[in-house]
Amino acid sequence: MDRQQLHDAVEAIRWYHVIDLPHGIRTPGSFDPNTELPRYGLPESFRGKTVLDVGAWDGWFSFEAERRGAGRVLATDSYSWSGKGGGSKDGFNLARKALGSSVEDLTIDVPELSPETVGKFDVVLFLGVLYHLRDPMAAIERVASVTRDQLIVETLVDLIHLRRPAMAYYPGREENNDPSTWVGPNPAAVVAMLRAAGFGRVAAIAQPSYVGAVAKSTLRRIRKRPGLHMAFHAWRSG
Ligand SMILES: C[S@@+](CC[C@H](N)C(=O)[O-])C[C@H]1O[C@@H](n2cnc3c(N)ncnc32)[C@H](O)[C@@H]1O
Repeated sequence: MDRQQLHDAVEAIRWYHVIDLPHGIRTPGSFDPNTELPRYGLPESFRGKTVLDVGAWDGWFSFEAERRGAGRVLATDSYSWSGKGGGSKDGFNLARKALGSSVEDLTIDVPELSPETVGKFDVVLFLGVLYHLRDPMAAIERVASVTRDQLIVETLVDLIHLRRPAMAYYPGREENNDPSTWVGPNPAAVVAMLRAAGFGRVAAIAQPSYVGAVAKSTLRRIRKRPGLHMAFHAWRSG
C-alpha cells in the first residue's frame, strides 16, 4: 500500500486509537495511549509471552505488546467490532495490515471468555472495559479464568474518598454522558475483586495520595470531565 492509498484508507475510518503507521501517517483517534502510558505501568518487555488483549478495539495495546516482544498476541472484542457504539473493526484490520503485524483476532464478548474458548495466556490486558460491564465481578472472573500469570486492569474509579470497597452505579448517562458506562468501583473494590478472583498479589499503579486523589476526582466531576482512571496489576502467585 503506497502512502496515498494508506492515507485514503485511514481517512475512511472512525478511529478510537491514535496509531503511528508507516509513511509517517498517524490515525486520527480520540485516544492516544502514548500520552498516558506511565499510568498503566506496562512491563517494558513481553519477550516470549503470550498476551490476550480483551476489548482491543483498534488494537493499540495489542500492537504494543507485539512490539515489546510478545511471542503471541490475541486481540478480542465484540461491542465495538460489531458496530455498537459507532465503532468497527476496520481500524484494527487496517492497522494490522499496515504494520505487518501478526496479532491474531477473535470476536468474542467478555462473558464468553474461558480456557475452552480462547485458552490461557501469560499476560491478559483488560484495559478500559470493566466499567462498561453490568456485572464487574463476573467479568473479572472470566478474565481471571484465562490468565496464567499476570492480569493488568485499567478502569474508571469512583468513590475514592471511601476506604472500604464500594462501587458507584450509573443507570443512565451520569458518567461522561456515556450510556455504556455502568459502574465505577473504588480502588479498594478493584483490589478486593481481584483477590476474590484468586490473585495472590495485587498492586495499584501509582495510586495517588488520598487527599490529592479525592480532590482531583471531585474537581473532574464538578467540571463534568471524564472520571479518574487507574491501573491495577494482579499476579497469580503471591
Ligand atoms: C474505552 S474502549 C478501550 C479500548 C482499549 N482496550 C483501550 O484501553 O484503549 C472500551 C472497549 O470495551 C469494549 N466493550 C466490551 N464490552 C462492552 C460493553 N458491554 N459496552 C461497551 N464497550 C464494551 C469495547 O468494544 C471497546 O473496545
